[in-house]
Amino acid sequence: MMADDYTIPQGWDRYTDEEHRTWDTLYERQVKLLPGKAEQSFIDGLKALDLGRGGIPNFETMSDELESLTGWRVVAVPGLVPDEVFFDHLANRRFPAGNFIRRADQLDYLQEPDVFHDVFGHVPMLTNPVFADYMQAYGKGGLRSLDSGCLKNLAALYWYTVEFGLIQTDDGLRIYGAGIVSSASESVFSLKDPSPHRLHFDLERVMRTDYRIDDFQQTYFVIDSYEDLFHATVDTDFGPIYERLQGVDEKYPVDTILNEEEVIHRGTQDYA
Ligand code: PHE
Ligand code: FE
Repeated sequence: MMADDYTIPQGWDRYTDEEHRTWDTLYERQVKLLPGKAEQSFIDGLKALDLGRGGIPNFETMSDELESLTGWRVVAVPGLVPDEVFFDHLANRRFPAGNFIRRADQLDYLQEPDVFHDVFGHVPMLTNPVFADYMQAYGKGGLRSLDSGCLKNLAALYWYTVEFGLIQTDDGLRIYGAGIVSSASESVFSLKDPSPHRLHFDLERVMRTDYRIDDFQQTYFVIDSYEDLFHATVDTDFGPIYERLQGVDEKYPVDTILNEEEVIHRGTQDYA
């Protein structure tokens, strides 16, 4: 039975051996790819939560561990949930994760986020205290924005950070976005391919940018640190930004480079 907040029991006992094997296959493939590509908090988070112990993680056990680190828990939902439900979970340090797993013949492509994307992709970053606070602030900001008419702008911020964010480190560019770290092809493409632009993160610019949900991104935005991302967003009152954006229907197309912006890599856009 689904509760008012859309949560359901994970039903861990109902996963089949084949479903557990699908997790293991995806897990092993990503873990091989990610050294030198994923930012260290992600790698540390995987270890801290022991997500490679074999099989689809049990949300209760995983949440007990995660809660002891940053106060977050993972709750099961049937799939995508309404915006206000999603924001309310985040605002209360609950990460809603799909409980189903993709079929064995869909390892590389799926339309709806499944337990591999949601847990492998998102949950390790929630062990980073600054990122964990950012996610909660995002949820609170979402609740506040519901009547602003600017949900699409807030969604673009989530998209280009939480899902597809890159970060500059002392060892070079790294990935931290869940959509990237959970994808074998995009974890390579986003970092190494000459095609996409890689631009320095700027809050309002990102909020005005279109995004694509059907293929690799044409532009990735790069933060300098999670602290920077936190301060750029949490210390800014979005009210005036929403007011400014009310009037502008037009989004920056996904391959735009603005005159004044900081370009880390000017993409060839050959892939697009
Ligand atoms: N500071 C934002 C506001 O005033 C809230 C927010 C924080 C939004 C972090 C997104 C991320 O609404
Ligand atoms: Fe996601």
